[in-house]
Amino acid sequence: MENATNNTEVHKGLEGVIAASTKIGYVDGQAGMLNYRGYDIKTLAEQSNYEEVSFLLLYGHLPTREEYNAYATKLRELSKPDEDVYDVIRKIGAKTHPMTTLRTAVSIFAASDKAESSENLKDQEEMAIKLIATLPTIVGAIHRVYSGKEIIAPDKNLGYAANFYYMSLGVRPDPMESKIMDTALILHADHGMNASTFSAMVTISTLADMYSSVTSAISTLKGGLHGGANERALKMIQSFGTPAGAESKLRDMLERKEKIMGFGHRVYKVYDPRAKILKQYADYITQKNDRNLYETANKVEEIMINTLGSKGIFPNVDFYSGMVYNAMGFKTEIFTPIFAVGRISGWVARALEYVSDNKLFRPKAQYTGERGPLKYVPIQER
Ligand SMILES: CC(C)(COP(=O)(O)OP(=O)(O)OC[C@H]1O[C@@H](n2cnc3c(N)ncnc32)[C@H](O)[C@@H]1OP(=O)(O)O)[C@@H](O)C(=O)NCCC(=O)NCCS
Repeated sequence: MENATNNTEVHKGLEGVIAASTKIGYVDGQAGMLNYRGYDIKTLAEQSNYEEVSFLLLYGHLPTREEYNAYATKLRELSKPDEDVYDVIRKIGAKTHPMTTLRTAVSIFAASDKAESSENLKDQEEMAIKLIATLPTIVGAIHRVYSGKEIIAPDKNLGYAANFYYMSLGVRPDPMESKIMDTALILHADHGMNASTFSAMVTISTLADMYSSVTSAISTLKGGLHGGANERALKMIQSFGTPAGAESKLRDMLERKEKIMGFGHRVYKVYDPRAKILKQYADYITQKNDRNLYETANKVEEIMINTLGSKGIFPNVDFYSGMVYNAMGFKTEIFTPIFAVGRISGWVARALEYVSDNKLFRPKAQYTGERGPLKYVPIQER
């Protein structure tokens, strides 16, 4: 085998490089399969809930009844952050993108933890649980303030997803709305070594704390190539107006070789299993209103599959998630923070897994600059 130190081949974006081992989740892009700790995503979406899935990701097994009760109770007890966090969210208001507010709010939240800088694994695990417990409250508060409304405290009688819905939208969800919210969070909980998860792992590999790791991940998720696609997919479908509008405008876009948001995936070359599940819920939730939006999306899907399906281009998770959140009443700018609420479990589970058998991340870059040594010219002579 070639010695890694002498290997001069550049893997741009680390594409194809295997940099860690994991037991947390597996994606098979050819088979359209995603599993968490060996459990198929479809089964978890149908039969589990977010509390159980986050336990599974963190601890590697489905909880017993006792473990579940203790974990779910702990999440509820830890769900309300200090007033400082709310104050900062109010102070920022609608001045910035909610992802910026989220990053700042998590930093303020860290300040309330005396063990904030601890490298101890048990402390890191406690921070992970605090973050899972509090993120929906923080994002809910950001959504309220961003919409010009009063912040709502968690309701200890509601489950994780229902509480997030309530704190964000101000009404308690019916059982079906609660199930859809739960499913959306489960579907976003983990997805291989994606960019934000990788960021979380790089930060914790320096033995920085879990709060630092999660703020890195939030910053990385913010970008349009990662968390921002659902927002853009929804805006595109809305701009088509009707199925007939989609027919003409989409064909023009394809002729101009434009990338259609919500389609295609680096890993999946078949229908994204998460999109399949969300499509059913988008169908259900747009029955009351937004039917035209769903039918327009369906037209887009039909044209895209007919045109590009043979190249492995199918709807991805972002195509239908935005439509579901929109029909629930979430503002478009909050779609990426909702993604963060789902992904928090994957971030912390993978950061903990990595740091428990740690190796500082330190890839190399191929130097293509001047080798010199050049003659140094004093500034007055240049
Ligand atoms: C995700 C993405 C970056 C993957 O890109 P990729 O791995 O380079 O895609 P592929 O190599 O499989 O593309 C195969 C062909 O389909 C085209 N294609 C891929 N995604 C497309 C899209 N969304 N719209 C139109 N054409 C697309 C490519 O241009 C390529 O065409 P070519 O054969 O003429 O060169 C890309 O599909 C994309 O930008 N999608 C839109 C953004 C999005 O929804 N992101 C969220 C991902 S979860």
